[in-house]
Amino acid sequence: MDAGGLYGGAGLRLRRLHAGAEGLGTLKDPVRIRAALPEDVAAVSTLLIETWHDTYDALLGSDKVDEITQLWHAPAVLLQQLKQPRISFLVAETAGQIVGHAFASAWNLPALEIARLYVRPDRQRQGIGNRFLDALIALYPRADKLSLSVEKFNFRAVAFYLHHGFVIHDEAVEDGAAILFLEKTLPQREP
Ligand SMILES: CC(C)(COP(=O)(O)OP(=O)(O)OC[C@H]1O[C@@H](n2cnc3c(N)ncnc32)[C@H](O)[C@@H]1OP(=O)(O)O)[C@@H](O)C(=O)NCCC(=O)NCCS
Repeated sequence: MDAGGLYGGAGLRLRRLHAGAEGLGTLKDPVRIRAALPEDVAAVSTLLIETWHDTYDALLGSDKVDEITQLWHAPAVLLQQLKQPRISFLVAETAGQIVGHAFASAWNLPALEIARLYVRPDRQRQGIGNRFLDALIALYPRADKLSLSVEKFNFRAVAFYLHHGFVIHDEAVEDGAAILFLEKTLPQREP
């Protein structure tokens, strides 16, 4: 069975994002949200490394961030993730530049897990995070819940998620970091 059948049509909708048939941008906002291509992974890696330093250096220290992000966000690692089934690997592109990235897993549908949501520091607070959430929700009409974890002291991200109606349902300490587990219930939609 094709991914579209298995995952509530997400495969087909992703292909339309590739083709630009469902471009989510407007003339006023030239940022386009689309499915990533293999040739995007180097730019996504650069974006993640830059945004991780901007976000986490004050919390974890620059050396630790280097260590983590070089490991987790190497282009070869991202390429493997891009090829996985039941995922959405999206980018925000403007003027040929990748300025944001979202990665979500549909393995536990109807709960959709957002594993990464990153907007380049100079493009934050311009609605790109909103657009990623809208795109992910649109890709998975069967999803009834969004879930994710966030560093407790990453106040920008926590503010963003609370603004979007996420609620904190649990808290833990993992590898010395305080982590919040957030969820947002989605309204029932027609597939
Ligand atoms: C968190 C993040 C993805 C949000 O994306 P964004 O494009 O900057 O957010 P948006 O512009 O769509 O913001 C939507 C709303 O969320 C809230 N919000 C976003 N950033 C905020 C901040 N820094 N402080 C307070 N509220 C914020 C606001 O209500 C905002 O609406 P407004 O600008 O009209 O007031 C982005 O800031 C980011 O990449 N941060 C660093 C990486 C990170 O922490 N990712 C999450 C890891 S779990």
